[in-house]
Amino acid sequence: MSNLAKLFTPIKVGAYTLSHRVVLAPMTRLRTIQPGDIPSPMMADFYGQRASQGGLEIIEGVSISIPARSYLGAASFYHDGQVEGWKAIADAVHAKGGRVFMQLIHGGRQSHIDMTGGVAPVAPSVVPFDGVALTKDGWVPVSPHRALEIEEIPGIVEEFRVAAQRALDAGFDGVELHGANGYLVDQFIQDGTNKRTDAYGGPIENRVRFLKEAVEALISVWGADRVGVRISPSGEWGGISDSDPEATISYVAQFLDQYGLAYLHVIEPRIKGDSTLHEGHPPVAVKFLRPHFSGPIIAAGGFDRESAIHIVEAGDADLVAFGRHFTSNPDLPYRLKHNVPLTPYVRDAFWGGNEKGYTDFPAIEPATAGLAATA
Ligand SMILES: Cc1cc2nc3c(=O)[nH]c(=O)nc-3n(C[C@H](O)[C@H](O)[C@H](O)COP(=O)(O)O)c2cc1C
Repeated sequence: MSNLAKLFTPIKVGAYTLSHRVVLAPMTRLRTIQPGDIPSPMMADFYGQRASQGGLEIIEGVSISIPARSYLGAASFYHDGQVEGWKAIADAVHAKGGRVFMQLIHGGRQSHIDMTGGVAPVAPSVVPFDGVALTKDGWVPVSPHRALEIEEIPGIVEEFRVAAQRALDAGFDGVELHGANGYLVDQFIQDGTNKRTDAYGGPIENRVRFLKEAVEALISVWGADRVGVRISPSGEWGGISDSDPEATISYVAQFLDQYGLAYLHVIEPRIKGDSTLHEGHPPVAVKFLRPHFSGPIIAAGGFDRESAIHIVEAGDADLVAFGRHFTSNPDLPYRLKHNVPLTPYVRDAFWGGNEKGYTDFPAIEPATAGLAATA
């Protein structure tokens, strides 16, 4: 494949022109400083190492409040003591000419009272499931959750808005709404978890109401061209399910299309959270959604060099986000472009720990490559 592969060419994503289409997928690595979920210097190193001129990084899921948290050590942004740490991360990416979006998340029912400040996790409806949260006692079964009262919903939407404002003030370039992987937004969208009979439940027009309000809260801060949304059609993480996934997800894509968002970020169903479920399955989600969304589509989940190049050439996606390969290849865009072998990732270091297996993977990209690597 020549250097002209579209994956390595510029693209306009909302307000920004990127110089290539290899995106860092959001990955929770549980390396904030406790207590207080303070973004750590090693996180700034991690994101700085993976930044590239004109490349896009999406920061790991950042909880918008204490009750929104799911995993001890995961990122959040709801108090002033976190500002400096987040600024350092944005600065580290910008120092190399990269762009950085912050993924905003509410975990909903995927949590435990040790993480939510002692209150029951919330969800659209009470639908028990076998999930785990990470607490001081390790991975434990989630706590029983309760259904949100309708009067409580505007408060959560407001928390999304405030977190988006914090991201703006900390120097980020945009925000991504986590509407995937069975967390709160997804719990509202899919009918396996949304059994409400009020304006937020029932037909899909109602089930997207929470998504609509959350997206519009982010847009009110950033403008639509600096807001993205992540979805996981037919995903299985978090015990999520829908009785008619194709109808639901095509409606969601069409619905979001009206805003002129920076991008729609789609996880392929062959992936379950941090693992490959269906080895060798071709991408189906982006192919299915392409006709329903006119803006840039980022495909994610199980891509390698060849399949990433192929999906962008085929036009089913405009960019490809890489998760696991990026953990062990800080210069992944360079390596993919020049077809350099990849360093295997180290699963044991995914969830928590120190610099080992996190920031100690060497880059082979020559320091001078810079623009040449992304031309
Ligand atoms: C350690 C780890 C943490 C992850 N955390 C998040 C997260 O915070 N938010 C999210 O949307 N996806 C998260 N994911 C999913 C990745 O963004 C991505 O969809 C998945 O790894 C599949 O892509 P890959 O095959 O390129 O790794 C995580 C994945 C891993 C491996």
